[in-house]
Amino acid sequence: MAGGEEFRLLVVVSWWFGVLEAPAGAQNVFCYGAFDVTSGKCNDLLGEGVAQDDCCLNHQYGFQLDRNGPCQACQAAHWSDWSPWSPCSVSCREGVQRRNRTCHGRNGPAGFCQASARQWEMKACSPMACCPRVGGWSAWAAWSPCSVTCLRGLQTRKRTCTNPAPDCGGSCLGDGAEQRSCDTNLICPMDGRWREWSEWSVCERKASNIRIACDELTGLQARTRTCVGRAHEGKRCVGPTMDIRSCYNVQLCSLKGAWTEWSPWGLCNPPCGEKPMKSRKRECKAIYPNYPMTVEGENGKVLNVSFWGRPRPNCQPLDGQGLVVEEQAPCQNVPPCED
Ligand SMILES: *[C@@H]1O[C@H](CO)[C@@H](O)[C@H](O)[C@H]1NC(C)=O
Ligand SMILES: *[C@@H]1O[C@H](CO)[C@@H](O)[C@H](O)[C@H]1NC(C)=O
Repeated sequence: MAGGEEFRLLVVVSWWFGVLEAPAGAQNVFCYGAFDVTSGKCNDLLGEGVAQDDCCLNHQYGFQLDRNGPCQACQAAHWSDWSPWSPCSVSCREGVQRRNRTCHGRNGPAGFCQASARQWEMKACSPMACCPRVGGWSAWAAWSPCSVTCLRGLQTRKRTCTNPAPDCGGSCLGDGAEQRSCDTNLICPMDGRWREWSEWSVCERKASNIRIACDELTGLQARTRTCVGRAHEGKRCVGPTMDIRSCYNVQLCSLKGAWTEWSPWGLCNPPCGEKPMKSRKRECKAIYPNYPMTVEGENGKVLNVSFWGRPRPNCQPLDGQGLVVEEQAPCQNVPPCED
C-alpha cells in the first residue's frame, strides 16, 4: 500500500539526520542583527530557534548557540586586529607588555581560526634604563651676611643635593635654601645735605672802613650754607660752607636807566572765573656803570667782580610812569572750566 511506503522513506531520512551529527548550519541559534567586531558582542536580538544558515544569510549578523555562550559572527571565522599594546608592566628598568586578538565568525574548513579563540603576543619594554633614586642633602652652608648694613634684613643659607647625588632623574626632597631675618643692631646712617646758600652779605671793605657804595671801588661779601641732617656716622656734605666774592656796591645808588621791551604776556587770571585778564609790562632797568669786571687778587689770581644791591634807575617817564608800565587785556575765547 502506497501510504506505508511513504512513511518508511520519512523514517529513513530522519534516521540519517540522527546518525550523522546534524550539520552545523541546521542548528537552531539565537540570531542577532549586529555583530560588534570590537567587543565581539551580539546586539539586536532578532529571534531564537532560528536555523543558523537562515540567520547567517546576512553576513553582518551574529548568533549564539545558547543564551549564555559566546557570540559568533556570521561571516567566516577570522582574526580581529591586534589590540593596542598594554602599558609596560614597570615604569623603569625592564618589564613586558602584551596584546591579543580574538577569532570571530563561523567555523569553516580547517585552516581558519577557531571561533572565540584568543592569541597573545608579549614583548619586553624598558621605559627608562634605570629607576630614579632620591638624593640626600649636604650639611647647611654658613648663613650669608645680612642683606643690609643697618636695621633688619634677611640672610640665606644653602645646601646641595649631593649627599649622595640623586640618580637617574631623581631629586632631593625639601628645600635647598632657607631664609631668616637678621638684625644688624645698627641705626642707618643719614648723610648730610646742604641747605640753600644764604643771601650775600653787604658788599663792603671791612678793614679799611672806606665807604665804597656807588663808586668804582671793589669790596668783599660772603654767603654761607649749612649742612643738615647728618646722623649716625652718615656722610658729611662735600664743599665749602662759605663763599666769598669781590663786588661793587650799587645798593640804592642812582643810576641811569632804560626801558625794557614788553615782557611776554603773563598768566590769565582768574584761571576759571569771570573775565580773565592777562598783563605784560615794561620796566625801567638800571644801566650798570662800565667798571672792569675782574680784579687781580692774591698771587695774581684773576677774580670776577659782581654788582651787588638794588640801584635806583632813572628813565624818561613813559605813560607818566617812572619805573613800571603795565598793560592789561582780556583773554579771548575762554572755554568754561570742567566741573
Ligand atoms: C585584549 O584585547 C581586548 C580587545 O581588543 C582588549 O580590550 C584588552 O585590553 C586586551 N588585553 C590586553 C592585556 O591587551
Ligand atoms: C668768572 O667769570 C667767567 C665768565 O662769566 C666764568 O667763566 C668764570 O667761571 C668765573 N670765575 C669764577 C672764579 O667764578
